[in-house]
Amino acid sequence: MIKSKENEDSNIEMAKNIDNSYDIEVKDLKKHFKGKRKMSDVLAVDGISFHVEKGEIFGLLGTNGAGKTTTIRILTGTLLPTEGTVTVGGFDIKSEIQKIKEMISVCPQEPAVYKFLSGIGNIKFFGNMYLLPKDQILKRGEELLKLLGLFEARKRLARGYSGGMVRQLSLIIALINEPDILFLDEPTVGLDPRNRRKVWDFLKTQKVENKTIILTTHYIEEAETLCNRVAIMDYGKIIAMGPPQKLIEEHKVKNLEEVFMKITGRSILEGI
Ligand SMILES: Nc1ncnc2c1ncn2[C@@H]1O[C@H](COP(=O)(O)OP(=O)(O)O)[C@@H](O)[C@H]1O
Ligand SMILES: [Mg+2]
Repeated sequence: MIKSKENEDSNIEMAKNIDNSYDIEVKDLKKHFKGKRKMSDVLAVDGISFHVEKGEIFGLLGTNGAGKTTTIRILTGTLLPTEGTVTVGGFDIKSEIQKIKEMISVCPQEPAVYKFLSGIGNIKFFGNMYLLPKDQILKRGEELLKLLGLFEARKRLARGYSGGMVRQLSLIIALINEPDILFLDEPTVGLDPRNRRKVWDFLKTQKVENKTIILTTHYIEEAETLCNRVAIMDYGKIIAMGPPQKLIEEHKVKNLEEVFMKITGRSILEGI
C-alpha cells in the first residue's frame, strides 16, 4: 500500500519534470576530450544548459572552437557527453537515441554527399535510404532544389560543385524526409548572399510549419534574422542567452556582434 503511494508520488514528480512544450532540453552538459598529455585535454563544452521550444529556431552563436559543433554532435547522437543530461523530443540521448534518430535530421558541418553522383542522384540515394516513396522523393527534391537555388545544377556530378553548392545539396538531403526537428551546423557557410537569403527564407517557412530548428552560426545577421532565441557560446560556456533583440536592448548596443564584444572584450569575427 505504502509502496504504491510512493510510486504514485514519484510518477507525479516525473510528470512535473517533463515539460512537453520543450523539444530539446540540455542540463549541465560537459564534453571533455582527453588527450595523450594533460596539455592536449580540451573542455569543449563546459556545463551548458538550455531548452528549445517546439517550433522555435534556436541559434548557437560563437567563434571557431566555441563548442557549437560538439554540442550538436552530442544532441544528435554522434558523441557521448562526459556529464549532463539531454532529451530530444522527450527521449533521453543515452538510452533512447534510436527513437531520437527517427524524428531528427542533421546537416553536419562537414557535408557528406557522394561526389560521383549528381545532385538529383544524391537526393534519390538518400531518399531511398529513408525508405521514402519514389514520387515523393522527386516531388520534394525538385521543390527543394528550386527553393534553395540548386535546380540548374541538379544533373551535374557533385564533384564539380563549389563548397557552397555542396552545402546547399547537403541541406536538401537533410530536408528530404520532412523531419520534426532539424539540426543545422553552419548551414550557409560558403553560400553567396543571394543563396544565403534563399536558405533563410526557406527556414522561415519551416518555422511557420512549426518545425523545431537548432542551428549553429558565426554570422551575426543569420542569428539576428532567423532565430527566436540565441545562446552565445564562448570557450564552451553560454555567456548570454535570449531573443536577439532583447540581448541587444539589455546591453544597450546596436547588434549581437557588439553584445559579444561587450561581454568578452573580443570581436566575434576574430579567427574566422
Ligand atoms: N574529436 C575531438 N578531439 C579533440 N578535441 C576536439 C574534438 N572535436 C572538437 N575538439 C575541440 O573542441 C573545441 C570545440 O570545437 P567545436 O565544437 O568544433 O567548436 P565550434 O563548432 O564552435 O567551432 C575546439 O577546441 C576543438 O579543437
Ligand atoms: Mg563548428
